[in-house]
This record gives sequence, C-alpha cells and structure tokens, in this order.
Amino acid sequence: MSKTVKGFSKFSKEEKINWLASNFFRSEKEGKKVLSQYLNQDEELQQLHDEFIENTVSNFYVPYAIAPNFLINGKAYTIPMAIEESSVVAAASLSAKFWSERGGFSARVISMTKVGQVHFMYSGDKEDLIRYFEEVKPELIRGTDDITENMRKRGGGIVDVVLRNKTEKLDNYYQLHVTFETGDSMGANFINSCLESIARTFERDDIEIVMSILSNYVPECRVYAEVSCPIENFASERPEFFAQKFVQAVAIADAEPYRAVTHNKGIMNGIDAVILATGNDFRAVAAGAHAYASCNGTYKSLTQARVEDGKFVFSIEIPLSLGTVGGLTKLHPLARLSLEILQNPTAEELMQIVAVAGLAQNFAAIRALTTTGIQQGHMKMHLKNILNQLEANLHEKELITKSFQGKTVSHSAVAEALHKIRTGH
Ligand code: MEV
Repeated sequence: MSKTVKGFSKFSKEEKINWLASNFFRSEKEGKKVLSQYLNQDEELQQLHDEFIENTVSNFYVPYAIAPNFLINGKAYTIPMAIEESSVVAAASLSAKFWSERGGFSARVISMTKVGQVHFMYSGDKEDLIRYFEEVKPELIRGTDDITENMRKRGGGIVDVVLRNKTEKLDNYYQLHVTFETGDSMGANFINSCLESIARTFERDDIEIVMSILSNYVPECRVYAEVSCPIENFASERPEFFAQKFVQAVAIADAEPYRAVTHNKGIMNGIDAVILATGNDFRAVAAGAHAYASCNGTYKSLTQARVEDGKFVFSIEIPLSLGTVGGLTKLHPLARLSLEILQNPTAEELMQIVAVAGLAQNFAAIRALTTTGIQQGHMKMHLKNILNQLEANLHEKELITKSFQGKTVSHSAVAEALHKIRTGH
C-alpha cells in the first residue's frame, strides 16, 4: 500500500482507478462502481470531459436547474443554475416572480475594462526607466499586433499600458499596468499572451521580469442592477415595517464584516450558479467580487437598500469578468445550452443577468431572514436530502413529506418520524 505515486499522469484511466481503489477505498468494488457510474457512457462526451483537465477518473455532478420568469430591462429571461445547495434555485425563482409583478429588474454595465500586469524589479535610475518606457511603449503595443488582430476586429484590444512605480510598497518593484477590452470573451488567455509578449521586450533590454499575469480584480469591469417599487406594493401586512427592516438588514451587512461575508456569500450563491452553468470561471469572479467588497478598507455589502419618497430601492454593483465566447462556453455542451436558454447573450448582457441573479438571491435571503427566518424554507428543501441520507424509500418519502407540511423540519424530527413508520410505533 503506497499513498504516493510516480508518473500518475501517464497511467491509463483504468490504472488510475485501480491505484485509487487499492489504496483508498473501503470497498474496492463499491468505489470503482461509483466512479464508473459517474462516467458518461457516450465515449466521445467523456473524452471531452477527460480533456478539460488532467488525471480525470470520473465526473462530479452538480444539479443543473432553471429559475424562470426573470424580467430584466423589460426582457423575459429563464436562468440556468448549476448548484448543489438546497433552496438557492427556489429562492431565485421566488424573487424573479415577485419582481416580475413589480416592473422587473433594471441593469446596466458601467464599464468593461480588464487589467493585466507585468511585474518587474528595477534598481537603476527612475528617470531613465520612465524615459525608456516612453520610448518603447509604441513598440510594446505593436509587438502584440498579431495576438490582438482578431480582437481589434471585434472592437477590443489593448486600451493602454502604464508604468507604475510601486517602490514605496516594495523595494525596486515596478509594474506595467495594462488595460484591455476583450469583447464577448472573458479574455484570460488573450490578456496573458499580450502580457508575455510585452514582457519579452523588457527582458530583451535586460529588465528583470518577475511575472506577467492578468488580474482577477476588475473594478472597471462592473455592472449595476436594481429593483424598486412603491412600498405599498409589498404584499405584507405592514409594508413600511417590512421595507424598513430590510433596509436595516442591508445596513448591518455594510457595517459589520461578520455579517457582510455571509450576506455576500448569499449573493454569490446566485452568481456562481449562473457562472458555472455558462462555463465561466466562478473562482475568478468570486475573488474579484470579494476584493471589491473590501475596496474601501473594510469588507462591506455588495448590495445597497434604501427607502426614498415612499419607494423601496434595492441594488447591486459588482465587478464581473465574463465571456460568452471562448473558454468552456461553447465547448461544454451544457454551457452551450445555458447560453441558448439565455438567448445567446453578449458578455455585456450576461453581466447584467448574473448581477440580477445575485440581487435576486440576496432579496430572497434578506426577506426570509427578516420575516420567517431562513430555516423554514431551507429545511423544507433540505428534507429531501435528509430522507436520502436516512435511505427512505419512495413510500416513506411521500408519507413524511406530507406529514411535515407546514411544520419545522429537523434531522432528528425526520429520523423519529421515519423510525415510527418503520417500527409501527
Ligand atoms: C446561505 O447559503 C446563504 C445565506 O446565509 C445568505 C444570507 O445570510 O444572507 C442565507
């Protein structure tokens, strides 16, 4: 038995699985069965997935669901979501319906500029460096012409290259801060290729490059989305009280980082689910969103709420670097379908849809938190997971689901109910 291995990537898939099975699985047979159950029987499709990454031994499923009835800028959208957490899709759907009856969501992209940086060390005279940079700058951009040709045809490319002196933060540290427009692609490969080309010119002139890489912090690739309605349009007995409490809940997230992190996590439930479903990079977006939430030095809410002249206004402003071409967007068959469901949006439209998904999610969470509490809805959805954990059969599931209607669900209460059914008392 050996927990380390040499040349694993060269093993065939079967050899990889055998190595795992003999080293880690409680039951070799059972473990192999589970891995192969999740492999696609369509060999071509499986190969596509195998080739997304290295050392693939199976697929890891996440439910793929639909939240219908979103009205965004007057247009109806059906939003695909890939997520494992109970109640996220239900919450999105509820919010969508609620706001579609109150004028829907409005959204607009503020800007779409992305950033990449060439980080380098220079210990010589600063003025010499500035002069060298000014001289070489046109050449830096020209040197990327073959890489940027197609992007330029689509209206994108390098926006600017700026030399930044960072020596106050770190001795001898400078950077080339490069801004890009990447059209409908997220543009990671494009940006990194441009940066490496730019860096080569510097290296040629004996400047020590440390690294060249895009930044996932994209405050200038930002979108705004909003819902609003007269307070009396809230279907609550005390609409003013509801609106006020809602505004307070968002203000608390703005004032208290412990709350803000959970508040924003709820927003990312909606955002990540759409990003994953459309084959975009949710880690990049999450990193950028959380950095933006703390851009003033304290981690704050990504959403804002206010009551103004009897009107409730709830909004989100968030950086989102997304693509509707390139990457996995057209390669992953489900991502492609997601984009079809979204009516083949541009990157700009997708930014708006994703921001709305986050706002909708946050609305549902805050509404539940400030009224019934979160557990009622959450545990109702989670009931199915508990029943599966307890290996309930179909008949038992039906009986228990019925008996818990309108009641608080907990693991122990469900286990007790199941025990009663099974033992007859
Ligand atoms: C759970 O995944 C998300 C919430 O905690 C978000 C929130 O508290 O606002 C419900």
